[in-house]
Amino acid sequence: MPKEIKDKKVNQASLLPLGSTLKKTGLEGKKTLAENLKEDKPPFETTTLWDYPKQSYGKKPKGNNKFQGVTPAFIIWNMIQRYTKPGDLVVDPMAGSGTTIDVCEEEGRRAIGYDVNPQHPKVIKNDSRKIPLKDASVDMVFIDSPYGDNVSYSDDPRDIGKISAESQRFYNELEKVAYEIYRILKPGKVMGWLIGDQWVKRKFTPVGFKVYEMLMDKIGFEPIDLVCVTRRNQSSNTGVWHYRAKKFNFFLRGFKYLILAKKPDGKKIISKRVPKINWKRYK
Ligand SMILES: C[S@@+](CC[C@H](N)C(=O)[O-])C[C@H]1O[C@@H](n2cnc3c(N)ncnc32)[C@H](O)[C@@H]1O
Repeated sequence: MPKEIKDKKVNQASLLPLGSTLKKTGLEGKKTLAENLKEDKPPFETTTLWDYPKQSYGKKPKGNNKFQGVTPAFIIWNMIQRYTKPGDLVVDPMAGSGTTIDVCEEEGRRAIGYDVNPQHPKVIKNDSRKIPLKDASVDMVFIDSPYGDNVSYSDDPRDIGKISAESQRFYNELEKVAYEIYRILKPGKVMGWLIGDQWVKRKFTPVGFKVYEMLMDKIGFEPIDLVCVTRRNQSSNTGVWHYRAKKFNFFLRGFKYLILAKKPDGKKIISKRVPKINWKRYK
């Protein structure tokens, strides 16, 4: 067995195929699992199922875990490890209590956060249907938008979280934000959009699928992957809600989607190996 795997140089290294080395994975610079645990850093995710028992990690808090709708800091940490390098500019158009800003600062990335209702001294008050940044100037975007009108973030009428996810207007307004994200991203760069579905008054609304469709079909993002993030800390994760879910035969939301997509870089992949058709086989 390669020495790196023996030493568990990356978490989940045991999942690597036998005989493979870390050189081939490109993860050779990453810290060992033991080192990460000692520093209370998140695990480097290698699958599309992410599950976090708490909102933050490390000595300094990231964002405010009392803020309703705060993002798990682990998600942003994982995204910037994969898609940015130190010094890169990360933007969060709905930054709320500033989780993205705090994670980026600790990891040596530059960050700008906007929100109609800032809950962090460095978050700038702004309606992100217009983002005051130049075209193609940003290296990564992370956004955790409202999923409908289930949470009351503020009294600001520009808050998209005041619109029901059952109405088309909700998606039209998010589309304006999505267009801005596309515009400010550099070609080939990545965006992560965290979004959850809705089940209200016996009606299911697949908010995640609708936002996915809007991003890919209307805006023109290219899909990278779809991650499921477990919803452990939501307000309905209580005995009484689990009881109701059984008694009235419905499901509590167990996960959110992290939609990973990129702005196309215009480079077409042209295969040099065009298979030759043996027409004789079809005669
Ligand atoms: C799920 S929370 C974001 C949480 C944040 N990532 C954090 O960790 O604290 C959604 C945020 O979207 C903001 N928001 C809603 N409509 C907006 C708009 N038009 N422009 C900017 N922010 C908006 C809300 O104020 C709220 O803070």
